[in-house]
Amino acid sequence: MRILFIGDVVGSLGRKKIHDELPRLKKKYRPQVTIVNGENAASGRGITEKIYKGFLQDGVDVVTMGNHTWDNRNIFEFIDGAKKMVRPANFPDETTPGQGIVYVKVNQEELAVINLQARTFMVALDDPFKKVECLVQEARKRTHHIFLDFHGETTSEKQAMGWFLDGKVSAVVGTHTHVQTNDGRILPQGTAYLSDVGMTGPYDGILGMKRAAVIDKFRTALPHRFEVVEEGRSMLSYCVIDLDPQTGKAKKIEHHIINDEQPLDS
Ligand SMILES: [Fe+2]
Repeated sequence: MRILFIGDVVGSLGRKKIHDELPRLKKKYRPQVTIVNGENAASGRGITEKIYKGFLQDGVDVVTMGNHTWDNRNIFEFIDGAKKMVRPANFPDETTPGQGIVYVKVNQEELAVINLQARTFMVALDDPFKKVECLVQEARKRTHHIFLDFHGETTSEKQAMGWFLDGKVSAVVGTHTHVQTNDGRILPQGTAYLSDVGMTGPYDGILGMKRAAVIDKFRTALPHRFEVVEEGRSMLSYCVIDLDPQTGKAKKIEHHIINDEQPLDS
């Protein structure tokens, strides 16, 4: 089973990049499952039903989320019916709409896709390590193919999750920082790991935002309103993971960035 995972789609430039590049990425890699993190897709803050459906039309199988899940109020109107969307599973069970795990059919197999949010320098949600143990136990009754998007700020917490789950899931890939890390590897028990897959959207902003306000914020320590860059050059960050069809263990992970300097080679 081959998984294509595309990192945090930011604003209209990110959405356009998905629309333009996904056909060529699919032609090159022929993935069975395409997963996109979409928590910044609506002007950097959340997602709308229209954008979610646009991703599915473009060929995305699952949309993962993160700390910006609830930023666009439209989410509350459609998340319970959005069967291909996963939001962080460690929000409180009783009160949170949506789902933290989703299953995608791949031929005779299934891929479980889990989304969790880290806690270091982030909102204190339920313990993601405890939560993932329950979810993995539940998922393994159905399949050995399990993918986790771990949405977090620090590489240390993400590495801890990778090693914690080594041999228990197929892949742990981080999102949220918008900067791709160069530490893709297969852990000893067969779990593919990458601290952060990076972002898809504006190439000349700061994490996708207009630079001036971000620089001013650091220079003055005063509050500033950040806006997403909506025009100019763009980039796409992704990884490709191959799983053994019998065991669900990872055989290979590669990660790349497409931009003006490094176009997708066919
Ligand atoms: Fe995030």
